Amino acid sequence: MTAVLFTKKKTKIDRSQRVLPVHVGIIMDGNGRWAKKRGLPRQAGHQVGASNFRKITRYCQRIGIKYLTVYAFSTENWKRPKEEVEALMNLFYDYLVEALRDFREDNIRVTFIGDMSAFSPKLQELMVETMELSADKTSMQLNIAMNYGGRDELLRAVKAISNEVAAGALQESDITAEVVSDHLYTAGQPDPDLIIRPSGEYRTSNFLLWQSAYAEYVFMDDILWPDFSTENLEEALDEYARRHRRFGGV
Ligand code: IPE
Ligand code: IPE
Ligand code: MG
Repeated sequence: MTAVLFTKKKTKIDRSQRVLPVHVGIIMDGNGRWAKKRGLPRQAGHQVGASNFRKITRYCQRIGIKYLTVYAFSTENWKRPKEEVEALMNLFYDYLVEALRDFREDNIRVTFIGDMSAFSPKLQELMVETMELSADKTSMQLNIAMNYGGRDELLRAVKAISNEVAAGALQESDITAEVVSDHLYTAGQPDPDLIIRPSGEYRTSNFLLWQSAYAEYVFMDDILWPDFSTENLEEALDEYARRHRRFGGV
């Protein structure tokens, strides 16, 4: 059974009555350890992790999740050995071509969040094409975080806002939390309600720092991303339904 940190005695949740989060974030972690446990190269874990991403995304759309943000590659992941980064870049390319075909069938709108300029021109082209081709899709918004970092995103927002102030387009007194949100990659989207991280790491690793201010976290410590099943997702959704959100109120 999947463990959830710090839970009290669990009440049984009736899934037909359950309140679903509007926006779910997933930190797809544990590919490397999954491969190591099987004596395989880390890349093999990324391969299986990528196919699981496709399965879980389609499942989220089917059950009525409206926004899904998945963390695929962080601004810090460039520190990894060259061969692993190269394998990931090749995988992103091959994989996107296939997965995007499914997502189109499923009426899923795809957006990449992060600094795309670091990727090869070929990959960037595919990313732009994907966003354009899916721009009119309406059943679910999928954000794929690639070369994404919460601090990097906030720095960009700060710079863009200062430029607007310097140009006289915005007054300092008009800078509100909403203005900051509007300068993030997720502009116009609701903040995440639930963030799930498998693999036993209990940290955010720079994911959606501003947007997650009132997100509910579910850390699952006995499952690695390539094995993360639709039932694991359901368990996280049950746990979300048990939470009492207060947003600072009573
Ligand atoms: C997540 O799995 C995928 C990426 C960060 C690209 P990891 O590669 O971090 O797997 P572990 O955490 O080393 O097991
Ligand atoms: C976070 O995982 C990034 C992704 C899952 C893409 P990491 O494996 O990079 O995070 P750390 O290094 O354990 O904090
Ligand atoms: Mg990791």
